[in-house]
Amino acid sequence: MELLRNKVISEGIVLPGNVLKVDSFLNHQMDPVLMQEIGREFRRRFADAGVTRVLTIESSGIAPGIMTALEIGVPLIFARKQKSLTLTEDIFVETAYSYTKQQSNDITVSKKFIHPGDRVLVIDDFLANGEAAFALARIVQQAGAEVAGIGIVIEKSFQPGAALLTGEGYRLESLVRIAGLADGEVQFADD
Ligand code: G4P
Ligand code: NA
Ligand code: NA
Repeated sequence: MELLRNKVISEGIVLPGNVLKVDSFLNHQMDPVLMQEIGREFRRRFADAGVTRVLTIESSGIAPGIMTALEIGVPLIFARKQKSLTLTEDIFVETAYSYTKQQSNDITVSKKFIHPGDRVLVIDDFLANGEAAFALARIVQQAGAEVAGIGIVIEKSFQPGAALLTGEGYRLESLVRIAGLADGEVQFADD
């Protein structure tokens, strides 16, 4: 996706620890035109997947998630990272380990919003180790629904998540794929 790739080149900042800072268009300030294009691109890529729900995780997944849901014409659900005190209904709970924060987080989704027969498209902003994506996929399975696909805005192909997800048979579509972040430079996987 040319527009996104150009944004990464012009505005992405490589930080120590193999982290790409994209807070001028994705993680803090957000570019709505770019988000709209991201939603359209995911709709195109998953046009034949029979998607009935989009599922993401708060907070940075919500923008690409809602644009994708808008384009496909289905609801967006975002998993919460903490059990809400006002969540009195039954919830699905899964644990995702964050390597960056070195802690396990419970993520929750109300049982009201995913049902057997649903075909759920999982969307997230980054794919690194795949902990978040696998936890979302397990929630879909708990609900007796199907993972229709996994759509990622920025895949860090040099970290294990992408290979693990495709190895499990998931249909993974990443809009940009980064092969490395050595020497403060972004190397794209398809160069
Ligand atoms: P994983 O789910 O792929 O295993 O991710 P990991 O634990 O490695 O990363 C934890 C958090 O860091 C996630 O966001 C993830 O999206 C984000 N992340 C991972 N690598 C990068 C990177 O290179 N750049 C940026 N900007 N983010 C990265 P989070 O903290 O859970 O959440 P939120 O921002 O959505 O609230
Ligand atoms: Na995220
Ligand atoms: Na993030």
